[in-house]
Amino acid sequence: MSTIDLGQNKVIDESRQGEAIIIESGNNTGSKKLYVESYGCAMNFSDSEVVASILTKDGYTTTRNVEEADLILINTCSIRDNAEVRVRKRLTDFRKHKKTNPKLVVGILGCMAERLKKSLLEDEKLVDIVAGPDTYRDLPNLISEVESGQKAVNVLLSREETYADISPVRLDQGGVTSFVSIMRGCDNMCSFCVVPFTRGRERSRDPQTIVRECHELFDAGYREVTLLGQNVDSYRWNTTSKGEIKDETIPSTNFAELLEMVAKVSPDLRVRFSTSHPKDMHDEVLHTMAKYENICPSIHLPVQSGNTDVLTRMNRGYSREWYLDRVKAIKTILPDCTISTDLIVGFCDETEEEHKDTLSLIDEVQFSFAFMYTYSERPKTLAERKYTDSVPEEVKSKRLTEIIEKQRNYSHEINKKQIGKTVKVLVENVSKKSEEHMSGRDGRNTVVVFPKGNLTKGQYVLVKVEDCTSATLLGSVVEICKPYSN
Ligand code: SAM
Ligand code: SF4
Ligand code: F3S
Repeated sequence: MSTIDLGQNKVIDESRQGEAIIIESGNNTGSKKLYVESYGCAMNFSDSEVVASILTKDGYTTTRNVEEADLILINTCSIRDNAEVRVRKRLTDFRKHKKTNPKLVVGILGCMAERLKKSLLEDEKLVDIVAGPDTYRDLPNLISEVESGQKAVNVLLSREETYADISPVRLDQGGVTSFVSIMRGCDNMCSFCVVPFTRGRERSRDPQTIVRECHELFDAGYREVTLLGQNVDSYRWNTTSKGEIKDETIPSTNFAELLEMVAKVSPDLRVRFSTSHPKDMHDEVLHTMAKYENICPSIHLPVQSGNTDVLTRMNRGYSREWYLDRVKAIKTILPDCTISTDLIVGFCDETEEEHKDTLSLIDEVQFSFAFMYTYSERPKTLAERKYTDSVPEEVKSKRLTEIIEKQRNYSHEINKKQIGKTVKVLVENVSKKSEEHMSGRDGRNTVVVFPKGNLTKGQYVLVKVEDCTSATLLGSVVEICKPYSN
């Protein structure tokens, strides 16, 4: 298990899969101690902040020290089998703490709780509480049930819950970047994916509460928000899936309009979003991005495969040609925008020719970076029921190595083209590798490292790029930007 730095790794949801994030808030007034560990995507991390908010009101204080906890919660991910293996190992570790503290309560939250439900209590006896992603308001009751000697489970999925009214307890006090959840669930049913089963139906959050949260974050010193959803392009408020207005008395809002509302919070608040879906990403969003300097020119647009037949088996709802058309639209409307992606190799019956189409797509698009995975069959998904996980593990690994090598070259080439340019960076943290350096990201979502000087987190600086690796730009500060708001 690794503990990761909250500042620098708040890049994008997929970067967190399989990582554990241990949280501690500065808002510690209660007497009972809560320890929370989060796995999976940014949505899970954001949910842990909601959980901390609910339990802080219930008298808990958060701790980084598992030894002193009265309540351990583990917020879990089911996306690939190895994510679940890691959690089981962690739960076995926690069982040891019960020997020294018999009153210790252990709860499992998130996608694995939703997927495995009661079996975690009955068959495996690893935990006292099982709580699915839509049931966190019920946690105080579930804890009371356990304190009165029972095991407690609530895995009901909701069609309405968005936790819109809960101000999350920000778990990295003094941070400058934050996630803001704008919707929950997913209606897409990609054949490989467990998320629709663990997160339920898609629902959008009231835009006014989103804008209010962004104002509060800005006032608290945050300078970047990432709007989160499994498919942000299908965000809609007050319209049905067919586009009909539900209530004539209130305004309706689509994702492009929401983005504009958040961009207007302050020109000093950077706005990012994740994840875009190729089948739903329309030009309106790109034009809104072009209009506001503070909407960062980087789009995470997961393609999964470069072959149309594989995409059809994956039930993604687009072809290779459609994806390339979307890429063309981005490059035309936003010439400086970076495009990143997710790729799966070795999906059911993927042939060598089909795999070559993924390699050629990487050549054609030239992604700035990619999260790359071998296919992991998930129970109850369409792919598990309809297809065979036929590609041998060693072939999957070989294909993964091929795409990783190709992608690394493009990441490096793209970074090399930035040498000599000046980029605007939000100062986020002391560099992980050197106390003498700070790091942040430019608008294109590339990590930039530069000498520390007298800089502080939350300032914007102009950095002249002098060198690079495939993952990082290195340079020196040429100007500290004055805030627009002053
Ligand atoms: N909603 C986003 C989308 O549609 O692109 C991504 C959601 S998922 C949390 C993040 C990534 O995990 C996916 O884009 C996919 O590449 C990967 N993934 C999902 N299910 C997987 C599976 N069964 N095996 C391997 N990778 C998987
Ligand atoms: Fe999973 Fe597809 Fe939904 Fe993304 S869009 S969460 S890959 S079902
Ligand atoms: Fe996220 Fe993993 Fe669930 S990626 S939505 S925590 S299955």
